[in-house]
Amino acid sequence: MEKSQVLNDVSLGYADPQIDELLKHSIRTQLESLLKSQVTVEQRQKLLQKSFVDAMALVLSGSKVEHKVLIKAFETMYEHAVQSMAQAKLSQELLTRQYISATGLIMSPHNCKHTIKDVYRIKGYARGVDQAIQGKLKHKPSITILYPACGPFAPLLLPLLSYYKDMQTYSAKQLQVMLVDVHPGAVITLRQLVKDLQLEDYIALIEEADATEFKPDTAIDLLVLEAMQHGFTKEGQLSIAKHLVKFLNIDGWMIPQNVSVRGMMVIGETEFNQQWKQVDYSHSNNMAKDALQDRVELGEIININKSTLLNMQELELQDGIKVIPANQIVLPKDITDMSQRIFAVYAHVETFAQEEVGQYDSGITHPRPDTSVYIDIKPKDIEHTHFVANSGDTVQFYYQISGLPGFVPVKV
Ligand SMILES: C[S@@+](CC[C@H](N)C(=O)[O-])C[C@H]1O[C@@H](n2cnc3c(N)ncnc32)[C@H](O)[C@@H]1O
Repeated sequence: MEKSQVLNDVSLGYADPQIDELLKHSIRTQLESLLKSQVTVEQRQKLLQKSFVDAMALVLSGSKVEHKVLIKAFETMYEHAVQSMAQAKLSQELLTRQYISATGLIMSPHNCKHTIKDVYRIKGYARGVDQAIQGKLKHKPSITILYPACGPFAPLLLPLLSYYKDMQTYSAKQLQVMLVDVHPGAVITLRQLVKDLQLEDYIALIEEADATEFKPDTAIDLLVLEAMQHGFTKEGQLSIAKHLVKFLNIDGWMIPQNVSVRGMMVIGETEFNQQWKQVDYSHSNNMAKDALQDRVELGEIININKSTLLNMQELELQDGIKVIPANQIVLPKDITDMSQRIFAVYAHVETFAQEEVGQYDSGITHPRPDTSVYIDIKPKDIEHTHFVANSGDTVQFYYQISGLPGFVPVKV
């Protein structure tokens, strides 16, 4: 679960200042040691390109590939991408700076680098993007793809472009890609990686800009976006999608074509511990039937696609905080052990056609327990952040657009 690992890494951004300095020192030492390896530039680039092509060949293959084979290929891709990052020679500040913007967390390149190992997220996206490109190029000689908040490695597109170039599937005349990221460290790394992969011809633009404000100067055929964390919190997926969807061609597609965020009441021990004891890795295919049956599904809290984004209404509260009204759910009445359950939110991502990232396939879809929600039970000390309701109540969800985006439930 690489994004889960990222979530853990995120907490490092708030470490004790002295420890933080040591940490930065060790990161630089690791990167510098990579630079000392004995291969020539050409050899390093060839190995990097091969690792990107190999990972995509497995992901796009029609036959089932073993988990450990995929993990190994993605680990190799990661190692080569990090070597390219080392060549970019980012300062400590650029490598580790992480902050909260008006619309969400801006993760440091150091923490973002792990997302290229998030195998099943990249698989779901790459297979979806591949079909979308194929579909678009049936009707147009060339298309423009925008990938905002792409991070230092743009892992949802650069591996795919490497594969297309190697296999001569699509030329740079057919595909033009715009890469946008607000973090200067991510942009410097991206430029180095694109150069090392020799993909410059496919890249129309690499821009350092806030994706919630960026205005492309040409209409977009495909918008590829993944700026999510589990429980649909922290990162600015919704704000970015809501802004950029306006620049899609009338028949342009968003990838993911649909994100469904759902709520459930679970027995924490069953959902998060027992069902994973007998399996090697967490994945939607490995979920236990009895754990699934034990859940109390509450239904969809929000649904995000091109059409819902274009129709989304934003409310501004008195203190300037913006919220988006999401769905209402009715808490079921007949659950005897409701007071022992915790509320959790998970996502199901349909990238394109039948391709998807299911719950537990990645940190972005992983269920997130929300311990501030109390149903049929009252917390000992009620704080203003607690939400207390009873079975049978109707709950309206709002999505808060702020530096810490997330859901706010309100009793109707
Ligand atoms: C988790 S990383 C990379 C995510 C990437 N899509 C992937 O698939 O791995 C998140 C990146 O999004 C960028 N980002 C977050 N919010 C942004 C925004 N509003 N505008 C531009 N970049 C943003 C951060 O700077 C960071 O480099």
